[in-house]
Amino acid sequence: MSTSPAAEAAKSLSGVAAEAARRRTFAIISHPDAGKTTLTEHLLLAGGAIRAAGAVRARGENRRTRSDWMKIERERGISVSASVMTFDHDGKMFNLLDTPGHEDFSEDTYRTLTAADAAVMVLDAAKGIEPQTLKLFEVCRLRDIPIVTFINKMDREAQDPFELLDEIASKLALDPAPLYWPAGSGGRFKGMVDLRGQRFIPFSKPSEQQDGHPDPVPMGGNSLAAFLDEAERAEMEEGAMLVQEASKPFDPQAFLEGHMTPVIFGSALRHFGVDELLAVIGAYAPPPKAVAATKNGAETKVEPGDKEVTGFVFKVQANMDPNHRDRIAFLKLCSGRFQRGMKLKVQNTGKQLSVNAPTMFFASDRELAEDAFAGDVIGIPNHGVLRVGDSLSESGTLRFQGLPNFAPEILQRVRVKDPLKAKHLKKALESLAEEGVTQLFRPTLGADFIVGAVGQLQFEVMADRLANEYQLEVIFEPSPYAEARWIIGERADLEDFAGKHRTAMAVDIDEQPVFLGKSAWEIGYVAERFPKVRFDRSKERA
Ligand code: G4P
Repeated sequence: MSTSPAAEAAKSLSGVAAEAARRRTFAIISHPDAGKTTLTEHLLLAGGAIRAAGAVRARGENRRTRSDWMKIERERGISVSASVMTFDHDGKMFNLLDTPGHEDFSEDTYRTLTAADAAVMVLDAAKGIEPQTLKLFEVCRLRDIPIVTFINKMDREAQDPFELLDEIASKLALDPAPLYWPAGSGGRFKGMVDLRGQRFIPFSKPSEQQDGHPDPVPMGGNSLAAFLDEAERAEMEEGAMLVQEASKPFDPQAFLEGHMTPVIFGSALRHFGVDELLAVIGAYAPPPKAVAATKNGAETKVEPGDKEVTGFVFKVQANMDPNHRDRIAFLKLCSGRFQRGMKLKVQNTGKQLSVNAPTMFFASDRELAEDAFAGDVIGIPNHGVLRVGDSLSESGTLRFQGLPNFAPEILQRVRVKDPLKAKHLKKALESLAEEGVTQLFRPTLGADFIVGAVGQLQFEVMADRLANEYQLEVIFEPSPYAEARWIIGERADLEDFAGKHRTAMAVDIDEQPVFLGKSAWEIGYVAERFPKVRFDRSKERA
C-alpha cells in the first residue's frame, strides 16, 4: 500500500527533527595552556574521527608549511583560526567548534560560542579557574549555554579536588556535580571512581601504558587491590563519600538551565577521562534548540524540526585553502534538511545563492556535504556575499537575532606605505572587516581609516594578512580615539548630534553612524548632554 504524500511529508519531517535531536554542537573554553588542543585531539580519537594522537597538530603543521598565512600562528605558537570538526559516534553526531585560545581573539571566540549549544570548560588541575576561563564562562552564561567541566592534567600535581570544586561554586556561582572522583594526582594518580556506577577506572602510568588503561573494576571487590594500596584506597573512599554528601546529585535539568555543571577529572594527554567526557556530552548536552527570530517582521521561533531550511553565519574566514582565494562562511543550521545544491536567500540583502559546494569539516579533511540538519555547521564558499550575522533561509524572510559586534578596545589609524595603493587598501580593509577580524570606521572628515580591535595582536595579524594576501605594506599609528559608540535614536536627534560633533563622527562598514570618543569620560559627558541619543558599545547587525 502506498502512503499518501502528506504522510510521506510528515514522516520526513519527523526524520528532520530526529536528525536534529542527535546533534551535539559544542565548543571548548579554557585559559591558554589548560589543554584545549590536546583535549580536542583526544575527543576526536575517542569519537573515532582520527586514529592516532598527534594528527591534529601534524595536520596543522602541514597546512602551515603549505601556506605562510598565519605565520604568526606558528611563530607565537597560538591558534588564531577557529574551525569546526564533525564526527559520528555512538548514535550521535558531534560538531566540535574550535575556538582560538588567545585573549586577543576573544571576539572571534564569542562569535563561535553563539553557534554552540554546549561548552566544555577545561581547567588545569593545578591552576583552577584562570582569567580567560572566567571571561568565556561569562559569555556562556549570557547565552545560557550549559557547561561540562573537565579538570585536566590530573597526571600532574593538582590542587585538592575539594578546593577545585569550591572554586567553581564560588567564582562561577555554579553547582559542581562530580560524576567521578580522583584517586591522587601527579605521580600518585591512580584513577577515578565512577560515583554513579560504583566502578573504579584505573589509570596506568605512561611507562606501563601499552594499549591504553586497564578495564574498570567494581568498587568493593578485591580487584581494587591491584591498583591501590590500603591508604590510597581509604583516602579515595573517604573523599568519594564526603563529596557525595557535600554536593548536590547531578540533575540534568539543572545542567541544561545553567545552574549545575557535571565534573569529570582526567588527563587529556594520557587519554584518561576523555571517553567518559564524550559519553557525558552525548548523554546530557542538549541538541539544538528553538531559536528566536522574526519572519516578515513578526516574532517567531524556529524549531529544529521545521521544514524550512534556515541558519545564520557566525564566522567568515578567508583563504583557508591557499590554492583558492576562497572565503568560507560558516553557517549554523537552525532548521530543516539542507541538501547540496539548494538555494538559500540572505535576509538583509535579499541575495539568493545556490549552495553547490558546501563543505563539512570532518576531522580527516574537508568534505562536500550532501545533507545537513539543525546543529550542523556547513562552510559555504563565497566571494564576499555572506557576512557574519547574516540570516539565511529558503524564503529569505527570516531573521535571527543579530550577532553582536563587540566594542573594540583599541582604535588605530591605518596607513599604506605606498600612497598609490590607497584604493586597494580600502577594499582589503573592508574584506577583513566583513570577516569580522577587525572593525573598520571611516571618519566623516579626512581620508584615513580607523581600525578597531579587541587586542593588540589582532593588528599584527591584520598587518601580516594585508602583506601576504593583498601585498599591502601598512603602518598602524595611534589614533586620537579611545572609544567607539554606535549612536541610536530618532533621525532628527542623530542629525543634530552628528552636526555638532562632525570631527568625531564616522561610519562603520554598514554605513551606520559611530561616535569616536577620546575617552570614556567624554562619552559620558556627551551622553548626558544628548539624552535622546543612545550610545551603544556594540551593535546588533541590521
Ligand atoms: P591549549 O590548547 O589549551 O593552549 O593547551 P595545549 O593542549 O596546547 O596544552 C598545553 C600544554 O599542556 C602542552 O604541553 C600539553 O602537552 C600539556 N598537556 C595538555 N593536557 C595535559 C595532561 O593531561 N597532562 C599533562 N601532563 N600535560 C598536558 P607543552 O609542553 O606546552 O607542549 P608540547 O610540547 O607537549 O606539545
